[in-house]
Amino acid sequence: MSRPRLTNKAILFLAASAAALLAIYLFWSLQGSIRELLEQRMGPRTSTLTIIKIVKLLLIGILGYLLVRALNFLFFALAFRLKRIDAPTLIRNIFTIVAFTILFLIAFTFLFPEVPLGSLFTTSAIFGVILGLALQDTLGNFFAGISLQADRPFQVGDVIVVGAQRHTGVVEEISWRAIKIRTFQNHVVMIANSNAAREPIEVCPRDNLNARIVFFNTLYSDSPAKTIHVVREAVREAENVSSKVTPIVRIRDLGENAVDYEVKYWLEDYAKYNDTDALVRQRIWYAFRRAGLSFAFPTRTLHVERPSRLAQRDGDGGAIVERLSAVDIFAPLSVEETGMLAQAAVRHVFAPGELVIRAGDPGSSMFVVHNGRVRVQVNENGRPRTVATLNEGDFFGEMALFTGEPRTANVVAQEETEVLEIGHAAMKRVFDTNPDLVESLSFIIAERRQGLASQTDSATPVNESSAGILSSIKRFFGLSQ
Ligand code: CMP
Repeated sequence: MSRPRLTNKAILFLAASAAALLAIYLFWSLQGSIRELLEQRMGPRTSTLTIIKIVKLLLIGILGYLLVRALNFLFFALAFRLKRIDAPTLIRNIFTIVAFTILFLIAFTFLFPEVPLGSLFTTSAIFGVILGLALQDTLGNFFAGISLQADRPFQVGDVIVVGAQRHTGVVEEISWRAIKIRTFQNHVVMIANSNAAREPIEVCPRDNLNARIVFFNTLYSDSPAKTIHVVREAVREAENVSSKVTPIVRIRDLGENAVDYEVKYWLEDYAKYNDTDALVRQRIWYAFRRAGLSFAFPTRTLHVERPSRLAQRDGDGGAIVERLSAVDIFAPLSVEETGMLAQAAVRHVFAPGELVIRAGDPGSSMFVVHNGRVRVQVNENGRPRTVATLNEGDFFGEMALFTGEPRTANVVAQEETEVLEIGHAAMKRVFDTNPDLVESLSFIIAERRQGLASQTDSATPVNESSAGILSSIKRFFGLSQ
């Protein structure tokens, strides 16, 4: 509450108290004359005394009300605040009601000593029923309010969503009658305590890390790994996004026109989630712009059938030729032979963590890493051991292809990885014209086999095993010994 408002209230309060005191003083001093006046008008009946008493009761009631307000202020607003405690509104209200009732009853017994108040309350069943019916809602709210104060499922400052109508806002007050929330359109909604007690209430506590989910989408041609990385980095920097938990970006659906994503992030101040959601969307837009990613809109994809390898060659076939000619085992090949291999190669993209090759499977092709990185892993005592990491331009899968034996290891994409797969027939053609290639390959295979053997295995010297591999490759590919 601001200072001027407090001063205004104090002046108003003092003026009202002075007016009430003055009215009481005047009424008490002039009661004899007022009674005479009434009797002249209404005749000398006993009811004039009762009228006077009722007016007195009313005046005392007004003064009592002002007194209770003053006590309430002194006790809760000053004493509690000195101890830095915010007294719940409900307790203040109960105090007011109880204090006022006591004052009223004292004044009543003083003015009407002939009326037996105790028996009136205890014996009058009709009075009880009437009071019960009249106060049904009020009492319901009152007791629901007490249970809310006792349970404390939420507090002032928390965001709550109430009932099927999903009234959403920040709790401003919990009184004996209702919960007051301020919606995000700055409207005030009062929810009766008894209604709130019946409805489900979703609570987003102020001192809790509450999360939000924002949806977006991309074109099917945009890489999921890249999208996830770009959005995560953009969102974690946004204002009011908690730095305690890293945002989670994940694919929700492979939709009709787009890959649908969601980003889940945690807020410092949940009451500002509308602004933060908007900021998150804005950051995603800019991050997309920088990373060359695109939002999808309803589209129809028209597929024009063309032989896929031809399409690849027309697309970035040049890059494939360049990649293959940089692979050391293919260095001796002529430009035409590398071109032929490139034409035969099939491109595949693997997500981070996906298996490219599974140990023990049969295999009739080898792979060259075009973009990305893979890990070669063997199982040792039930746990994976990484024997090598292969980068762009490295090859794998040659062991099973050239020896006809099962795959010797798992090969896992370490990040989003694009590989070029070359089959048995294409390699056979290359061997026919380049018999020397078999020799360098058998040496590499022998070396890799040694890398696969565990520390405890007794390894055969590379030269010795390479000679054995050389003859088995020649046998397998039907080359002259
Ligand atoms: P292949 O056995 O067909 O399938 C698994 C592949 O992992 C294997 O061929 C090799 O290409 C590769 N590999 C196995 N051991 C090693 C190693 N020590 N270093 C690098 N690559 C390897």
